Amino acid sequence: MWIATTAWVCLIAGFLNRRSVKKHIPLVLTAIVLDLGVVVFLQATRSAVQTAVEFSLTVPQKIHIISSSIAVTLYIPMVALGVYLYRNRTHHKVRRVHRGIGMFALVSRTLGFIFMFWMIETST
Ligand code: HEM
Repeated sequence: MWIATTAWVCLIAGFLNRRSVKKHIPLVLTAIVLDLGVVVFLQATRSAVQTAVEFSLTVPQKIHIISSSIAVTLYIPMVALGVYLYRNRTHHKVRRVHRGIGMFALVSRTLGFIFMFWMIETST
């Protein structure tokens, strides 16, 4: 839970520093690595995906899983677009797409973060 919280804080800090490449990139990359680490850890220790599919989950728990999965999946195009943008800083179309998908990923991840607190009961 602390790793997921740190990741979310880094993502928000990265978003707030979106105009400063020097801060934006390390912050969002830290968030992405931590989030992917949590996914691998949960999968290895609790078979998280199977649990999510098999168990009858409550609505808030489903929201957590769906929104977190969307966010983590969107990290892939975000990194690709981000690297491209870093190399071609004046490419306005790519910048707009990066911003659009980024906002969606941010909202999904925030929803996942809020609804994470409904998962704690079942995991402990
Ligand atoms: C989910 C993660 C990410 C989010 C939410 C995000 C969000 C954003 C946003 C909102 C902007 C401002 C765009 C604008 O207003 O024009 C931006 C800019 C930028 N992002 Fe990201 N980003 C993410 C990941 C990344 C990654 C992984 C990289 C690089 C590897 C990256 C590189 C950049 C660059 C180079 C800019 C342009 C900064 C500038 O020239 O001012 N981003 N990002």
